[in-house]
Amino acid sequence: MRLMSVRKSAFLTLLQWICPLMSDYCEVNVCQNGGTCVTGVGEDPFICICVDGFGGNTCNLTETGPCNPNPCENDGSCEVITPTRRGDVFGEYICKCQLGFDGAHCQINENDCASQPCKNGGVCRDLDGDFTCQCPSPYVGKQCKLRCTSLLGMEGGGIVESQISASSVHYGIMGLQRWGPELARLNNHGIVNAWTSAAHDRNPWIEIDLQKTMRLTGIITQGASRMGSAEFIKAFKVSTSVDGEAYITYRVDGQRKDKVFVGNIDNDSTKTNLFDPPIVAQYIRIIPVVCRKACTLRMELLGCELNVYSNAAGCSEPMGMKSRLISDGQVSASSSYRTWGIDTFTWYPQFARLDKQGKTNAWSAATNNRSEWIQVDLEKTKRLTGIITQGAKDFGVVQFVSMFKVSYSNDGETWSVLKDEKTGSDKIFPGNTDNNTHKRNLFEPPFYARYVRVLPWEWHERITLRMELLGCDD
Ligand SMILES: *[C@@H]1O[C@H](CO)[C@@H](O)[C@H](O)[C@H]1NC(C)=O
Ligand SMILES: *[C@@H]1O[C@H](CO)[C@@H](O)[C@H](O)[C@H]1NC(C)=O
Ligand SMILES: *[C@@H]1O[C@H](CO)[C@@H](O)[C@H](O)[C@H]1NC(C)=O
Ligand SMILES: *[C@@H]1O[C@H](CO)[C@@H](O)[C@H](O)[C@H]1NC(C)=O
Repeated sequence: MRLMSVRKSAFLTLLQWICPLMSDYCEVNVCQNGGTCVTGVGEDPFICICVDGFGGNTCNLTETGPCNPNPCENDGSCEVITPTRRGDVFGEYICKCQLGFDGAHCQINENDCASQPCKNGGVCRDLDGDFTCQCPSPYVGKQCKLRCTSLLGMEGGGIVESQISASSVHYGIMGLQRWGPELARLNNHGIVNAWTSAAHDRNPWIEIDLQKTMRLTGIITQGASRMGSAEFIKAFKVSTSVDGEAYITYRVDGQRKDKVFVGNIDNDSTKTNLFDPPIVAQYIRIIPVVCRKACTLRMELLGCELNVYSNAAGCSEPMGMKSRLISDGQVSASSSYRTWGIDTFTWYPQFARLDKQGKTNAWSAATNNRSEWIQVDLEKTKRLTGIITQGAKDFGVVQFVSMFKVSYSNDGETWSVLKDEKTGSDKIFPGNTDNNTHKRNLFEPPFYARYVRVLPWEWHERITLRMELLGCDD
């Protein structure tokens, strides 16, 4: 009977299948030190897959050398300086730490918040090699330095009539007075000076189409008086969309219920509500919840243009695959490959983090076909400007995605594939050519989305991917 160890055998790498009928050799687990026994691999009756630090046919040998097992923590890589062995003490090695880690064994997670990078009351969160600021509205930007409080043009007229629509309109005095949505402008004067929904309208709303995706940080509302009596919206919800099709009702971070904003109390005074966090959208709907007499509104929006702060050059921050700002739960895929069918060696989508280390250190799809995908839910609409991809090795076999497409969605259901600007057909991005190099591609033009999918198109050996998305919140 011939035995072999995974770590020692090169030709094993060709044989990544398992025959369930030949399981008898593994009935008694001959693999020591936590090794996994596998049968049916090529001509060998069984093989042992050893855990880190062990080798030999039955994992009974302690791997020698200062870097086995890897003494470096937090995905640090170990490098031998003098490969000599002095007695039982291993020779010199150094740990090369990932960004954001320090110490002889990369055991110290540097606090990237120590320099207090967040301004204007922003709350800092330390990430692996990065930080993120949660900015209080109306401050925005990586470090909360920018104020986003322009009046967007309801009162000033920058928003024109055709951009304002409503579920219904109230006609007063035998149909002669039209309380249309185009009148819903803050401080509008006259006898008919606001929008009022029709009395029979059970689900009224008024919508502003900003004609491009913008950032909204607040809303000012005001009622009006009609026939000598005050009418106003006492409470309302806000719903937004980037495409005019999928709408999301505004919620405060971490809350399960829609946010109900407190509105007006009389016919004339203004009430300002801030959106904290800000909204990134093209369409905003105000949905009255409680109205006094009728749902009557004058309003203004606060916000700013996005591209002022985020041209592609200023908007290419890693979105958090590597730093883990994107949590495991935000990454999913069509399927996951298991080496030799073993759960321990599952190549989960959550492993698709740039520069991830370890035995299974990437996402790999169960089948090699063009229906496979990996998806990131950014939880909010973000501006995306590029992607970095990387391959990996599965027990010595180099595998990577050499060409891929990208699609995006705002509701997780309807998807748009990025198009080539010149030809109008699906854009195919050049991917990797080895197991380790970062390949960077830019999205031209950038796009806004909450969900992003990578669709592997061509690959080497197996669909295997580590990645980072580039973009910004703005
Ligand atoms: C490991 O096991 C093999 C047989 O499988 C044996 O020949 C060898 O001596 C063992 N080595 C140690 C260090 O126990
Ligand atoms: C409307 O507001 C103005 C200014 O606050 C006030 O003088 C007036 O009495 C109000 N009208 C009604 C009908 O409430
Ligand atoms: C292709 O991949 C999809 C998604 O995992 C899977 O459902 C399908 O069976 C695969 N098709 C083939 C022909 O392998
Ligand atoms: C995989 O990548 C590493 C790091 O770039 C490189 O040293 C190694 O030669 C590559 N392995 C193969 C088999 O190409």
